[in-house]
Amino acid sequence: MSKTVFITGTNSGFGKAMVELFANKGWKVAATVRNKSEHPDLFKGMERVKLYELEITNYAQVTEVTKKVIADFKKIDVVVNNAAYCLMGPTETSSMEQIEKQFKTNVFGLMAITKAFIPHFRENQNGLFINFSSASARFNYPYIASYGGSKWAVRGISESLGIELKPYGIEVKTVYPGVHATKIFTKLDHGANGNDPVYAKNYK
Ligand SMILES: NC(=O)c1ccc[n+]([C@@H]2O[C@H](COP(=O)([O-])OP(=O)(O)OC[C@H]3O[C@@H](n4cnc5c(N)ncnc54)[C@H](OP(=O)(O)O)[C@@H]3O)[C@@H](O)[C@H]2O)c1
Repeated sequence: MSKTVFITGTNSGFGKAMVELFANKGWKVAATVRNKSEHPDLFKGMERVKLYELEITNYAQVTEVTKKVIADFKKIDVVVNNAAYCLMGPTETSSMEQIEKQFKTNVFGLMAITKAFIPHFRENQNGLFINFSSASARFNYPYIASYGGSKWAVRGISESLGIELKPYGIEVKTVYPGVHATKIFTKLDHGANGNDPVYAKNYK
């Protein structure tokens, strides 16, 4: 029987590539994007792929959508926490709103999805979480303190949960990609003003 994977943030980059890879290997895929109408042709003709709308910082929507996914597929084998973005710029000029949003997306959104699937995995006594961290959670770079910090948090959360959930047959794996030319660099939160005269030279 073919297995099912749930993947967040699948309209570009690693998320899109993973949907195509899993589906081509015969898996069923529950894929999420923030806004389906913005991606009318995404995974068109791929009958193994079902697309859901999900903003991972909307916890009520996380609950609603994950319930629907479980009801639709009956059994989810793997959850890939992929969705994230990068706040880039000097920390001094980043607002607390920007910093909070960075952690709310990259850390708390991931936690909300993980929490939503734990009971299902525990019931099945089987399941795998694959959490996207970053090479910046091995050694962080300047001007991405919040992004790298959020990815260190993903690393720590994954390490802890891996031990916590092991007795229930649930595994947690962490991915630490290096730099890849995905759309993440076209969607940077540049609000953390790199043109600030104090930082402009070093930031450039
Ligand atoms: N590319 C790299 O160099 C690199 C390096 C290290 C780690 N990573 C990690 O790899 C993962 C995938 O990134 P990528 O490089 O493939 O970038 P990407 O092409 O920008 O893909 C990121 C995906 O996450 C979604 N997303 C962002 N915020 C979201 C939110 N609040 N709710 C729901 N979806 C949201 C994006 O949707 P929208 O299009 O709607 O924004 C997009 O589908 C991320 O966890 C990233 O941190 C990437």
